[in-house]
Amino acid sequence: MRILGIETSCDETAAAVVVEGTDMLSSEVSSQISVHHPYGGVVPELASRKHIEAITPVVQKAIRASGVTIEKLDGIAVTQGPGLIGSLLVGFSFAKAFALTLGIPWVGVSHLEGHINSVFLEPDPPPFPFVALLASGGHTCIYHVTSHTNSVLMGQTRDDAAGEAFDKVAKMLGLGYPGGSVISRLAEDGNPAKITFPRSYLDKSGFDFSFSGIKTAVNRYIHTHRHEYVQQISDIASGFQEAVVEVLTHKIINAAWEKGCDHIALVGGVAANRRLRELVRNNAAQKGLSLHIPSIQLCGDNAAMIAAVGYHYLRKGIHSDFSEDVYSRVPMA
Ligand code: KG4
Ligand code: ZN
Repeated sequence: MRILGIETSCDETAAAVVVEGTDMLSSEVSSQISVHHPYGGVVPELASRKHIEAITPVVQKAIRASGVTIEKLDGIAVTQGPGLIGSLLVGFSFAKAFALTLGIPWVGVSHLEGHINSVFLEPDPPPFPFVALLASGGHTCIYHVTSHTNSVLMGQTRDDAAGEAFDKVAKMLGLGYPGGSVISRLAEDGNPAKITFPRSYLDKSGFDFSFSGIKTAVNRYIHTHRHEYVQQISDIASGFQEAVVEVLTHKIINAAWEKGCDHIALVGGVAANRRLRELVRNNAAQKGLSLHIPSIQLCGDNAAMIAAVGYHYLRKGIHSDFSEDVYSRVPMA
């Protein structure tokens, strides 16, 4: 099946064509970073307007690049939630209208299931079951993944998401939005042991996270060193990153042990972090675990992961109804 994926949950307008849930023929992402950068975060109203401008050209580009003609598309998968309502509605309404015009089935899928399925777009994907750490700007969760469309939540953040902590610390340091890539680049020149920030493990054997304490600790450091912190930015970035990455690594390795899984996956925007990839890789190797991380382009928001998961619903004949709506948060079980 040739599936068109559409993703507009936050500040990226994305479209992709994927065959059989694994073979990515095209993946187009139009970023709004330059629009939101001056505000230090995503402005929802601006995001929706930019999606409206970008959606048609991005979908056209993805279809053209795939080499698949419109009549050969077998279905459409689109992000239904969680995300910004105004942004989601642009992609969701576009997908409904396009499916109706082409007379093909369509399905609304979870953005989080999309991230988990991003590892199936790479060679050598994990066998089921495996454990996955999903770390992004909106979520930090550990899942026991039993199939493409079934995951059991083992733990999640009780306050800020890991990516959100990177973004907020970058804002405190005057580095703009989004913070993850800037902090990780600066951290390369810093000494992670020079300034020690707290590691919040909560219950060390549990799988919940908390990142608001470290954010406050960085803020306090900046205020108590307000005359000299600018010279220490690389060391602050490095010390902060090391603390976050250590906690994430500890929990994902423990989760694999708890579930008796030999395979672990790292997905979501924060999985692009070079130090996180390195630390998890080293720890996984020591414990004899196989690690699966998507390429950098598939860690951040993209539509190929949406097409990849949508395929597993559509091939079973599971479609969405035209009366369905988007959702901002994960519905309570
Ligand atoms: O998955 P994603 O693209 O969007 C959401 O679903 O939220 O994740 C975006 C998040 C942002 O918070 C960004 O700062 C973070 O991922 N991020 C990083 C890196 N690249 C992106 N965090 C740490 N290190 C990076 N290299
Ligand atoms: Zn995401």
